[in-house]
Amino acid sequence: MVDDARAISFERSTPWVADAALSKVCLEDLTRDRVVRSVLDVGGGTGALGSQFLKVEPRPSVTVLDRSPHMLARVPRGCRTILADWVSAEGGHEFDTVLMRQFLHYTSAPEVALLHALEFMCDDALMYIGQLVAPSQASADWVHAIGTYLDPGRSTVFTERGLRDAVHGAGFGELVVRRFEYRESLQQWAARLRVPLAPNPLPPKLRPSPDVVRELRLGADHAISLTWLHLVVEAAA
Ligand SMILES: C[S@@+](CC[C@H](N)C(=O)[O-])C[C@H]1O[C@@H](n2cnc3c(N)ncnc32)[C@H](O)[C@@H]1O
Repeated sequence: MVDDARAISFERSTPWVADAALSKVCLEDLTRDRVVRSVLDVGGGTGALGSQFLKVEPRPSVTVLDRSPHMLARVPRGCRTILADWVSAEGGHEFDTVLMRQFLHYTSAPEVALLHALEFMCDDALMYIGQLVAPSQASADWVHAIGTYLDPGRSTVFTERGLRDAVHGAGFGELVVRRFEYRESLQQWAARLRVPLAPNPLPPKLRPSPDVVRELRLGADHAISLTWLHLVVEAAA
């Protein structure tokens, strides 16, 4: 599995994983005017985001759930871990805070994955969804072609509309919506996943790129323009 193979360098090589500014916004939005007691980080990988909650006072319990034992082996001490596939994991309505950062694109049915979170959420629980989304459907299709070429485990590249429709379709209401611009180097992305990718010309199935990507071509590389979408949601009453 790609996630097992890349676990060892995941935090070092993926620029956003240990980005303090990104996790700070998430922490601030989830701890404003409420006490966080129990956090579940779904598809939490090495626990880079969930473990940040160990710094919050009073200190909540933090649980990281992931299907990759290699990712979980790197979760910091102080967090509980659950080795499980998300949709077959059983919840007991025990968490007041659920995190899903860069997880939903691994699921072929995002609404089902979102709905499943209700089994883990207690009354008044909040869920944070952090996801890189493409600026248009054409761009999403192109990034999807690249993503599945580099990592066949991926299922979906969202646009903002697509992700928010899935969130609403699963019955969640949005409390916070934030956007941060983000650029990804195609060559760095391929290098992190250890897939050799000739820059020029790209493999035929990755051509043609939509205008939004072509405009951002940088020499032999491509700069993929994306947006970090941050949502804080609650279960509808
Ligand atoms: C891109 S990483 C994100 C890790 C973490 N959320 C973060 O933001 O640092 C996606 C993680 O989701 C996990 N994952 C993918 N599909 C899963 C599933 N069906 N059940 C549990 N974990 C899954 C992968 O093993 C991987 O660790």
